[in-house]
Amino acid sequence: LGNNLALTPQMGFNDWNAYGCNVSESLIKSTALAMHDNGMQAAGYQYVNIDDCWLTHNRDSSGRLVPDPAKFPDGISGTAAYVHSLGLKLGIYEDAGTMTCAGYPGSLGHEQTDADSFAAWGVDYLKYDNCYADGVNQSGGGGPSAQSRYTTMRDALAKTGRPIVYSLCSWGRDNVWTWGAGVGNSWRTTGDINASWGSMLSIFHSNVGLASYAGPGGWNDPDMLEIGNGMSATEDRSEFSLWAEMAAPLISGTNIANASSTTLGILTNSRVIAVDQDPLGKQGVEVASSGGLDVLAKPLADGDVSVALFNENSGTATISTTVGAIGKTGASSYTLTDLWTGATSTTTGAISASVPGHGTVMLRVTGGTTGGGGGGSTTGEVHAV
Ligand code: DGJ
Repeated sequence: LGNNLALTPQMGFNDWNAYGCNVSESLIKSTALAMHDNGMQAAGYQYVNIDDCWLTHNRDSSGRLVPDPAKFPDGISGTAAYVHSLGLKLGIYEDAGTMTCAGYPGSLGHEQTDADSFAAWGVDYLKYDNCYADGVNQSGGGGPSAQSRYTTMRDALAKTGRPIVYSLCSWGRDNVWTWGAGVGNSWRTTGDINASWGSMLSIFHSNVGLASYAGPGGWNDPDMLEIGNGMSATEDRSEFSLWAEMAAPLISGTNIANASSTTLGILTNSRVIAVDQDPLGKQGVEVASSGGLDVLAKPLADGDVSVALFNENSGTATISTTVGAIGKTGASSYTLTDLWTGATSTTTGAISASVPGHGTVMLRVTGGTTGGGGGGSTTGEVHAV
C-alpha cells in the first residue's frame, strides 16, 4: 500500500494467540512495558496490538464504537498515550463485516466513523478481520466483495490523515495476494495458526510460494508467531527462521512479561531479524525441496544471500546446496555466517549442514556477485544422508 508504512515487515505483539478474548488495558500496558525493558523494543518490535473483544456490544448514540470500560478504564486513547510514552505504537482490531468474529460491532457501513475514532484515539495500526461478511460465519451472504470492503476501510484510514498500518486479516480468501498490495500493508494468506508443528508447517507451505506478490509496503502474512507457546525450542527457531526468510510480519503472540530467556533469545536474534527487515524487501523462495528437506534463498540489499536449510522430518539430516543454486557466482571463496550460532566458515561453493529434525540452519552467504538464482531458480539439489 502506498502509504509509506511497513517498508519493511511490521514487528510487534498481538494478544490473541496467548490470551484470546481476555484483552485489557492492563495487559496491553504491562506487555508494552515488558517489551520496553526486555530488549524487544530495541530489537525492532514497535507495535503493541489489541485484538478482538475490546469493545462493548453497542455503538453510542452517535454511532461510534465504545471501548469496554471495564477492560479499558482509560479507553483506547489512554492506553495509546501510555504506549506512546514508551516510544512504542498502538494497534487495534476491527472487522470488515457486521460483527467481529467474537460478536462485537463490525465496521461494515461504518468505516469512516470508525477510522476517525481510531485516528482520534492515537491508533497506529489496524488489523481488519473478515467475519460476518459475504456468507462467512452465517452473515447470509451476498454482500460486497472482500476487495471492496477492505478498500473502503483503506480509503477511510487515508482520509483521517494519520499514518496507520493496515493489516488485512483476509485468511487467504479471494486470492488476496493478487490485490493485497494495492489495499493493505500486509494480508493474511491462511487461516489461523496454532502453537503446533503441524499448523506452523502447513502455513509455511501455503505462504512460501507467494513471494512474487510481496515487497516494501505490502507483505504476505502467514499469521502471528507462536514462539514460546508450546512448540519445542527447535521448532520455535524454525518458525522464526522461516518467517524471516519469507519477509513476514513478526508479531509475537506470547505472554511477553513471562517469556523465558530461550523465547526472548529467539525473538531478539538480531542476525535473523536483519534478514526479515532487509530493505531490499524480497521474500525468500524455495530453490530446492525434496523429501521434506528444503533450501530457501533470500537476496539481501548488500548483495549477500540468506539461506535457510529446513528439515521438515523428525530425524537429523544433512541438507546441501551450492552457491550457484542460491544465486551467487564469481568468487573463489565465500563466507558463511550461521545466524543462530554466529559462527563463520568459508566455502569454495558447497553449502551443507547437519540439521536436526524440525530444525532450520540459517546462513548468510557473503562474496561474489548475486543474480539469477534465489529469485525462482529450481536448479538446487537436496539430499538426505
Ligand atoms: C480470526 C483471526 O484470524 C484471528 O487472528 C483473530 O483475530 C480472531 N479472528 C479474533 O476473533
